[in-house]
Amino acid sequence: MNYVEPNPRAAAGGERVLSGMRPTGALHLGHYHGALKNWAQLQHDNACFFFVADWHALTTHYESPEVIASHTHDMVVDWLAAGVDPQHATLFVQSRVPEHAELFLLLGMGTPLAWLERVPTYKEQIANLKDKDLLTYGFLGYPLLQAADILIYQARWVPVGADQIPHIEMSREIARRFNTLYGKDPDIEAKARDAASRLPDEQRQQLQALRRAADQEGQVELREQAHALVAASRLSRVDKDALRAQIDGGRRSILREPEALLTPESKLPGLDGRKMSKSYGNSIAIREERAVVEHKIRRMPTDPARVRRSDPGNPEKCPVWEFHQAYTDEACREWVRRGCTSAGIGCLECKQPVIDAVLREQQPMLERAQPYLDQPGLVRDILDAGTQRAQAAARETMQMVRDAMGLRGA
Ligand code: TRP
Ligand code: SF4
Repeated sequence: MNYVEPNPRAAAGGERVLSGMRPTGALHLGHYHGALKNWAQLQHDNACFFFVADWHALTTHYESPEVIASHTHDMVVDWLAAGVDPQHATLFVQSRVPEHAELFLLLGMGTPLAWLERVPTYKEQIANLKDKDLLTYGFLGYPLLQAADILIYQARWVPVGADQIPHIEMSREIARRFNTLYGKDPDIEAKARDAASRLPDEQRQQLQALRRAADQEGQVELREQAHALVAASRLSRVDKDALRAQIDGGRRSILREPEALLTPESKLPGLDGRKMSKSYGNSIAIREERAVVEHKIRRMPTDPARVRRSDPGNPEKCPVWEFHQAYTDEACREWVRRGCTSAGIGCLECKQPVIDAVLREQQPMLERAQPYLDQPGLVRDILDAGTQRAQAAARETMQMVRDAMGLRGA
C-alpha cells in the first residue's frame, strides 16, 4: 500500500507552488508563523511542492554533512506537525531528484557571472560568515541552483520571505534568457531578417545593436528604444510586425517565469524582542515541552522600567506585548494596556494568557507529530512518494530543456 495518495485537486490543476527550506533541524514558532502556516493554507487550492534543500545546506555547511539526515527528518516532522499534509502537498528531498543538478548545469552555460556576483546576499554572507570559507564555486552558484529548483517545476508561485526576493527575480531573468536563447521560433527569425534587410544600413545596425544589448542585459529601456526605431521606420506593416515580434523575443516559452509570493513578516519576535532564531537562544520550538514553554515565557524580559511590581510599565517597550499582539484578542490586550500602565497587574499575570495561547496553538501540532515520532519510517514513506511525484514533474521539463538545447543524443 502506498501511504500517500496524490491529492486529486492538486494533480488535476491549481497553480503550481514551490518552496524549499534548508534542513536546519527542529523548527521554531518563527518558522511556523513566518512560513509553515502559509504553506499549510496554500496546499488546499494549489499544487504545492515543498522540498528539503539539502544541497543548499552544503553550499555553506559543506564541512558538516553528518547532520543533514537527522536535520531533514526533524524538520519534516515539524512541517507535518504544522499541518502541511502529504495528502495535499508533495514533500520531497532535493538531492533525491538529481534532475535539479542537470538543469543547474545546463543553465550555468549561459548565465553571466556578473548576475551571480551581484546577488545582494553574496558578498554580505561572505563577510558575515567569516569562520567559513565561502569563496567556493558552490556558494557562488547557489542562486542558480535555486533557479533550477524553481524552473524545473514550472512553478507559478514561490512563497518566500523578503530576503529571497532577489533570488526569485534572478530566476525570472534566467527563465527569460533561456527562452530567448533556446525558444526561438525559426519563422519569426527568417521574416525579421528579411524585413531588416529593407531598412537603411544605419538603422539596421542600430536596431541589431539595441536588440543584442536588450537580450543580454535584460534592459527594458533598450527594448523600448528598438520598438521606437521600428515604429519610426518606413517599412510596411508586415515588416514592422515581424521586427516587433523579434524584439519581444520571437520565442516560445519553455521555462515559466515564476513569481514571488511574499509571506508577510511574522509578527512574532524572539523571547528577547530580537528576531527569533535558534542561534540567539531566544526561540520556542514548534514541538517544545509544555513545561519548557511555560518556563521560557515566564523568564521573558519585560519593560526594564518595571523593576518592582508597583512601577507602572509601557507595553511598547516590552517583548511580551508583541506576543500579545500575535496571540491574544483585543479584550485581553485592553486589560494589558490598562493593567501595565497603572501597575494594576504584575508581569507574570500578564504573561499567563500568552502562555495559555501558545500552549493551545501547540497542542494540535504535538498531536500531529506523535505518529511520526512513534514510527520514523512514516516520514521516509512520505518523502519517497513525494520524491517520485516530484521527479515525474522534473523529468517532463528536462525533456523539453534537453531538446531545446540540442541534446537529443546521436
Ligand atoms: N534559498 C532558500 C533559503 O535559504 C531555500 C531555497 C532553496 C528555496 N531553493 C528554493 C526557496 C526554491 C524557494 C524556492 O531559505
Ligand atoms: Fe510587559 Fe505585561 Fe509587564 Fe507590561 S505588564 S511590562 S506588557 S509583561
